[in-house]
Amino acid sequence: MTKAPIAAYPALRPRRLRQADWIRRMVRETTLQPSDLLWSMVVHDGDGLIPVKSMPGVDRFSVKEAAKAAVQARDLGIPAIAIFPFIDGEKKDARGTQASDPDGLIARAVKAMKDAAPEVGIMCDVALDPFTDHGHDGLIEDGKILNDPTIERLVEQGLMQAAAGADILAPSDMMDGRVAALRAALETGGHQDVMIMAYAAKYASAFYGPYREAIGSAKALKGDKRTYQMDPFNTEEALREVAMDIAEGADMVMVKPGMPYLDIVQRVVEAFAMPTFAYQVSGEYAMLMAAAQNGWLEEERAILETLTSFKRAGCAGIITYFAPRAAKLLGA
Ligand code: PBG
Repeated sequence: MTKAPIAAYPALRPRRLRQADWIRRMVRETTLQPSDLLWSMVVHDGDGLIPVKSMPGVDRFSVKEAAKAAVQARDLGIPAIAIFPFIDGEKKDARGTQASDPDGLIARAVKAMKDAAPEVGIMCDVALDPFTDHGHDGLIEDGKILNDPTIERLVEQGLMQAAAGADILAPSDMMDGRVAALRAALETGGHQDVMIMAYAAKYASAFYGPYREAIGSAKALKGDKRTYQMDPFNTEEALREVAMDIAEGADMVMVKPGMPYLDIVQRVVEAFAMPTFAYQVSGEYAMLMAAAQNGWLEEERAILETLTSFKRAGCAGIITYFAPRAAKLLGA
C-alpha cells in the first residue's frame, strides 16, 4: 500500500537514498536472480543448433543439445526449461497426430534432458499448433476450432508428456475446460504430482510472430486465433479466465505476452495471490534485439530492465528466451 509521505522537502530528499550503489542496493524493493528465469527453448529432430533468423541469438536445439542445455541450466541456477517443438512439414496433419506420439520429438527430448539433469524442471507445452498442418491449436471443422474434441487430444498429449517425465504441463491452447480435463486425467493416470501451469490469460497477440517462424508454423497458419485467444482490450475477462483455471486445478498461472500486459500481471497477483508467471514472448525478444543490433539500445541493461519489470509487477518468474544470457549477466 502506498503511504503518503510523512515529510516534505527538504526534510525528505529521495535522492539521499540514491547516492551510492550500496545504499541503492540496501533499499531495493525487488530482486532479480537466475531462479526467476524459465528458459524458453525450441527443440528439433535434426542435429546441432539451428539459428532462428527472426530471433538473433536463439537457436533450435537438437535432442542432444537440449540435454547439454539442461546441464547448463542447472549450472546457471535456472530452475526449469520450457520446450516447444519444431516439426517437419511432412509430419503434420489436421489432427496433430505427432502431438501425442510416445516416441516423438518431445518425449525423446524430455527423457534426454531429465537423464542429463534431473534437478532441472521440464515444462511441456500442451497445444496442437506445432503439429497441425493448419497451424491452429485445436481441431477444425468447417473453419471452426472445436473445443471439446480438442480437449480429448490435449489430454492424450498431456498424458504422453507426463509419462515421458515432464514435471509441468503448460496448456497454451486456450480451449475452455482443458485444465480440468488435464488435472482429472493426471489424477487417474497416476501422475498426481505433475504440475499444471495454465496459460490462463493468453491474448491474441501480434508478438508471437517470430515464434511461429521458430517452430515452423508461420506458413501453415490460416487465419488468426481470435476465437480462442483473448481480446487485447479486456482485463476483467482475464480475471475470470484465471479464476476458472485455478478452480479447475492449475497450480500456477501465466499471463502472455509479458511486457505489454504487465497491468494484467499486477491485477492477477493482487486478486489471487497464486504463483503468477509471465511469458516474455518471441516478439518482445526480437524487438529488443533488433533495436540493440542497430545500436539504439544498450542491450544488456535493457534485457535486465525488462526482466526486472516483471518482478516489480509481482511475477514469481519469467519464461524468457533470455534466460541463459540473463543468468550469466546476473553473475551465476
Ligand atoms: C501456441 C503457442 C504460441 C506461443 C507459445 N505457444 C503461439 C501462438 O499462440 O500462436 C508463443 C511463444 C512466443 O511467441 O514466444 N500454442
